[in-house]
Amino acid sequence: MEPKETTCRICGGEVREFFDFGRQPLSDSFPSEDELDKEFFFRLRIGMCASCTMVQLLEEVPRDRMFRADYPYYSSGSRRMREHFAATARHLLDTELTGPDPFCVEIGSNDGVMLRVIKDAGVRHLGVEPSGGVAERSRTNGVQVLTAFFEEATAREIADEHGRAQVIYAANTICHIPYLESVFRGVDALLSPDGVFVFEDPYLGDIVERNTFDQIYDEHFYLFTARSVQTAARRFGFDLVDVERLPVHGGEVRYTLARVGGRRPSPRVDDLITTETKCGLGEFATLETFGDRIRQVCKDLVARLRELHDLGFYVVGYGATAKSATVINYAGIGPDLMPCIYDTTPAKVGRYLPGSHIPIRSADELGRPYPDYAVLFAWNHMEEVQAREAEFTAQGGRWILYVPEFRIA
Ligand code: SAH
Ligand code: TYD
Ligand code: ZN
Repeated sequence: MEPKETTCRICGGEVREFFDFGRQPLSDSFPSEDELDKEFFFRLRIGMCASCTMVQLLEEVPRDRMFRADYPYYSSGSRRMREHFAATARHLLDTELTGPDPFCVEIGSNDGVMLRVIKDAGVRHLGVEPSGGVAERSRTNGVQVLTAFFEEATAREIADEHGRAQVIYAANTICHIPYLESVFRGVDALLSPDGVFVFEDPYLGDIVERNTFDQIYDEHFYLFTARSVQTAARRFGFDLVDVERLPVHGGEVRYTLARVGGRRPSPRVDDLITTETKCGLGEFATLETFGDRIRQVCKDLVARLRELHDLGFYVVGYGATAKSATVINYAGIGPDLMPCIYDTTPAKVGRYLPGSHIPIRSADELGRPYPDYAVLFAWNHMEEVQAREAEFTAQGGRWILYVPEFRIA
């Protein structure tokens, strides 16, 4: 018998599993034809700590396998996300980076989508980005970046060379880092005494409410709530002083942390924690019910795809997202049911989806010929995708969604 419980990465308490997706490949690793038999697999299981309520994966994938020179996710690939990060940069410039010669550090700066706006404002900045390819892309945009994993040692080196930062910012990255203790020690070493550590990540409240279970994959080691972030922050000498719900990626929360006693917390923090308690987010039973919905929706999706296939319809996928790995591999969808998937990312085109080996084609070829149905795996970019692919629906094509449940749009 394998143990069902494991040790919490935050507090050492017991993590109780609520869902097992089984054997899964790396989500952001799209093998080429000659790499198809060399894929890395791990067991994707998720649970909640009975002591601190932190939701986390039970197995950790080595970071160098995920964040490599050829990491294929480019943040600038979506117009909406470019606008979101430009607005974020302007907000930080207006509120926190206002003193003499301010310094802003971004953890997981990717292709520089946020920092290029900070750079254009003439403000000192540094990205910390371990994936060489995306880091190089940001350099070509004039952004300063260190190709490294952020952890205590990296932070100390940055502080020695550049001095303290008024803002340390991260989007869709802190939830990727199991070793948060080292990250917080690093933030402590690098952040100016009254500086802020701001990060935004997919929100467990939205994931459970909207059944967006495919946000669970290798890179998303933690699924945060205001309560679990506040508890973790306090262990590491920080306080959660503000929260803001964000509409991007299906629902995220932006957490603002400051040193304990440094800033008065906004009432929004307690309000969100109260809402979480009312929704039962810290209760195991809520997550078990969520698990039941995951099983149901995957069953429905496969059954409906099989039905459409047997009726002779041509059904493809759209958006070779990291998220798609979870749903496609757990549901067991292969090239027989879905002969190909379309995507706009040059680094993904011509390769295959991990695990299922569904071939990836350029979105520019969607109309050759137009399929009858397309399953939208990039559901978080629905408006942008529908606008880009207006001709598909004009030709009679229909979008299929699987969150919060199976629906033909
Ligand atoms: N901030 C961007 C990128 C998110 S993808 C956005 O929101 O779109 C996550 C990024 O974090 C990847 O580029 C990955 O290489 C980087 N990353 C992963 N672990 C990291 C670590 N320990 N320190 C810094 N960056 C990390
Ligand atoms: P995204 O949902 O942002 O992230 P993740 O991989 O973390 O789940 O990925 C969106 C993917 O969809 C990306 O590979 C680019 C692609 N895409 C299109 O193919 N067409 C579009 O119009 C847009 C906006 C994105
Ligand atoms: Zn814990």
